[in-house]
Amino acid sequence: MNPSPANDVIHEVVLTTRSAAGTLHIAPMGVRYRREAGVDLIVVMPFKPSTTLDNILARRGAVLNVVTDTRVFAGCVTGRRDWPTEPVPANDGLRLAQALRHLALELVDQRDDAQRPVLTLRVIEQADHAPFLGFNRAQAAVVEGAVLVSRLRLLPLERIERELAALQVAIDKTASPNEHEAWGWLLEAVERHRQVQAAASAAPEGR
Ligand SMILES: Cc1cc2nc3c(=O)[nH]c(=O)nc-3n(C[C@H](O)[C@H](O)[C@H](O)COP(=O)(O)O)c2cc1C
Repeated sequence: MNPSPANDVIHEVVLTTRSAAGTLHIAPMGVRYRREAGVDLIVVMPFKPSTTLDNILARRGAVLNVVTDTRVFAGCVTGRRDWPTEPVPANDGLRLAQALRHLALELVDQRDDAQRPVLTLRVIEQADHAPFLGFNRAQAAVVEGAVLVSRLRLLPLERIERELAALQVAIDKTASPNEHEAWGWLLEAVERHRQVQAAASAAPEGR
């Protein structure tokens, strides 16, 4: 691993975790790469409540997936979490089949917080499965769109719609069928949310 010297940069990846009972959970997360005393570390900050957080604490580990198939990012935030996996024997985990790279992680430190605990995990294995082909603007737009959709209940809808409209340019110019599909899921989720909001504001006041 070649950690950036600006090691507070956030990288958008997908974490695969398992519950105590072994159930798989897949979630996009922003992580930081650190290197301390020759040890490669990953810092994760999940907002509570979080299944990823619960699973990491339960099994003291996770798998970090570097993915450019952005359908996983858009899929996870729109209820499509069923992505193919492969076993990671190093920590009894699972990685995404389409990961370009995976890191098997072991929890070494946790700082609890009412809102956003800080988990530090040590890299115990790294494996490359496919090359990174370079940046694609539509992929970046889908990741950004997925962040907005994951905050549908937190941000004003007009702001989300405005930001998605700006990102649409990159989709129109550079999307492959995968990003078109992912973008469609995001737009659908926003439309559903808009309809729910409209229905709620049209409903008569509580009895
Ligand atoms: C690109 C991207 C980055 C994200 N980063 C974080 C993060 O750092 N922390 C977090 O709690 N949620 C993050 N989210 C939102 C989570 O993926 C989503 O809310 C998820 O359901 C987390 O909760 P869970 O662990 O219960 O699945 C991110 C979403 C996207 C699309």
